[in-house]
Amino acid sequence: MPLASDQPLSVFTKWAREYGDVFYYRAAWLHVYFLNHPDLIEEVLVRNPRNFLKDRVVRNSRWFFGDGLLTNEGDSWLRQRKLSAPAFHRERVSSYAQIMTDYAEQMLAGWHNGETRDIQQEMMQLTLNVVVRALFNVESDRTQQIRTAMNLMMGNATGVRMLLPPIARYLPTPQMNRVRRAVKGLDETVYNIIAQHRASTRDSGDLLSMLMSARDEDGSRMSDKQLRDEVLTFLLAGHETTALALTWTWYLLDQNPKAEQRLHQELDRVLAGRAPTASDLANLSYCDRVIRESMRLYPPAWSLARTVISDFELHGYTIPAGANVVMSQWIMHRNPTYFPDPEKFNPDRWLTEGAQKLPRFAYFPFGGGPRQCIGAAFAMMEATLLLATMAQHFRLRLIADHPVIPVPSFTLRPKYGMKMRLESRGATNQPNADLVAASSRNSALSSAE
Ligand code: HEM
Repeated sequence: MPLASDQPLSVFTKWAREYGDVFYYRAAWLHVYFLNHPDLIEEVLVRNPRNFLKDRVVRNSRWFFGDGLLTNEGDSWLRQRKLSAPAFHRERVSSYAQIMTDYAEQMLAGWHNGETRDIQQEMMQLTLNVVVRALFNVESDRTQQIRTAMNLMMGNATGVRMLLPPIARYLPTPQMNRVRRAVKGLDETVYNIIAQHRASTRDSGDLLSMLMSARDEDGSRMSDKQLRDEVLTFLLAGHETTALALTWTWYLLDQNPKAEQRLHQELDRVLAGRAPTASDLANLSYCDRVIRESMRLYPPAWSLARTVISDFELHGYTIPAGANVVMSQWIMHRNPTYFPDPEKFNPDRWLTEGAQKLPRFAYFPFGGGPRQCIGAAFAMMEATLLLATMAQHFRLRLIADHPVIPVPSFTLRPKYGMKMRLESRGATNQPNADLVAASSRNSALSSAE
């Protein structure tokens, strides 16, 4: 069947309800099979991952990511995944908690009661600051260079161009020239930082140092090119998704005042105005459920896609080699079989017995199987700490008539951003004095700058 709609999410969801576990459509020369049952998704991601490659869109982004974890395949991917894994262990990730809350406080110190801001942009800057610092622990002018280049790469139009087929990237258009210049600048900066880390004898405690010191079973380490590819992948994969999770959470809190109130009660009780730490996470269970529920309704990665290597038998269907399979979080997370009253934002649904018994792939914001998101623990901790820090000081109100339309591009973005009015919970139009003081004494930020 053809897809001719400017609202693909609702069309896909409708088809899934009408046609059941599998539906097929053709987009030009692409054969696409949507798998809409948790068991089918498990077959692909967990039981037979070797019969699938990342889909064409991801493969097209290799010119930028090279052999980073997101785009790499086969034995080379496995080696890199093993080498990178220790950098993302829970204990290591906890050491970045202070960076996260310090940057949140720094941002809040510049927020004023009554202002309107595009919260998507604010969250993008915040999570980019966090990931740059966690990766490199670099001084501020480098952070600025990286930010400028990443912003250019991720701008809506150029972001799409990154995913064009190889030939299009050589077009001498002004936009493509800008993209090429941004990649060149980013490469220079990253190679420079790698060289400095190599020259230094001290462990600066960042992710790059961990990646550099990791050794393979045969004793070998990552080359500069491999480090560059991984680092750029973490920069990109590690900030937009978390920023979107927070953006959609702010939107949902605005629409659901009771949930917002419960969140405030928990934050006031557990933190009483101080910044959260990693050891508070266990006590911020409502905050955690808010984020889980937000990623159910608005999963930042709205679908995963794979290309079939050889004909694949799947519960009575034959999916031919070369076809694409799509597994959509958007569709699964709104399936009433698994989530009663699926459109309702209800963080407490995660406490019910039904939620404990969900099939593995009814809810999979971070994917699953061997290619599951390596940054999941980092992202959950970051989203919780940032939300807890921000929501203690501000509520955000969507401005009247702002259209909120989720667009399923590479990630699930709000089409017109998220314009919101800041309401200080202390209700003064001055920057919060505690935050200004906290941000000026932030130890984690000042140590490297
Ligand atoms: C809320 C935030 C995030 C979401 C929703 C998310 C989602 C995902 C998903 C769904 C995948 C699987 C893709 C596939 O199977 O095709 C993935 C992979 C990946 N993510 Fe995340 N991610 C998030 C945050 C992060 C962070 C913070 C980092 C790093 C700092 C990161 C790094 C990666 C990498 C490197 C991969 C590829 C892993 C591999 O194939 O070995 N992600 N992510």
